[in-house]
Amino acid sequence: MRPGGDDDSPPREADTKALRVVLALIFLALFVGVAFLYSGVYPIGADHPHTAPVRWVINVLRDRSVEAHAKHIEVPDLSDSTMVLEGAGRYAAMCSGCHLAPGYDSDELYRGLYPRPPRLAKAKHLDPKEAFWVIKHGLKLTGMPAWGPTHDDEELWSMVAFLKKMPELSPEQYREMVARAPRDEDRSRMPMPGGPPEAHENP
Ligand code: HEC
Repeated sequence: MRPGGDDDSPPREADTKALRVVLALIFLALFVGVAFLYSGVYPIGADHPHTAPVRWVINVLRDRSVEAHAKHIEVPDLSDSTMVLEGAGRYAAMCSGCHLAPGYDSDELYRGLYPRPPRLAKAKHLDPKEAFWVIKHGLKLTGMPAWGPTHDDEELWSMVAFLKKMPELSPEQYREMVARAPRDEDRSRMPMPGGPPEAHENP
């Protein structure tokens, strides 16, 4: 091989060597990655928080995915008071165990889940499109269920309508609203933490 050959000449020995080193490093990195996966040392327990880089990756992945998927959803009128009331009943039956509610500050589900469910009574700036998408489809590996397979869009929107209202409610107003909410099959089937007073008798 001629030293200092022009562009058409075969690669110099130094280049080939560098390429081999890069390839070897890539294989080594892959091997270490796969060995780490199979070793079982990763702490998967829900009582062991993610490291900051893992949390960052998951948060970006979730936020961007929800934004992109929810972008074209059309939001119906959410101000109808019957809709808000129906949403209150459904929220108390299906969501308050994880997300808590005004005057309802602790629950075994809320305390044990990781990531911890956001306290939606304090979430003043939820985007209705994104909230609807998350409620319908759930979030992988978080405990947030998909409610779309068991509820139609109208039922799901009633909960979004209620979520917009909830941050303004005092514990008394919340209880009063849930007590007035129409009964549906969710409320007769499930316990209602954060529901009307009688629901607290047997938590
Ligand atoms: C078993 C527990 C559980 C139940 C039940 C549950 N959720 Fe969630 N939900 C979660 C968790 C955990 C997250 C947060 C996931 C994360 O941090 O990425 C979440 C996230 C959300 C979000 C996204 C909040 C945000 O800040 O973007 C909304 C909206 C939501 N849930 C609404 C509901 C509604 C409405 C119900 C009832 C129909 C419900 N959830 C029932 C666990 C639950």
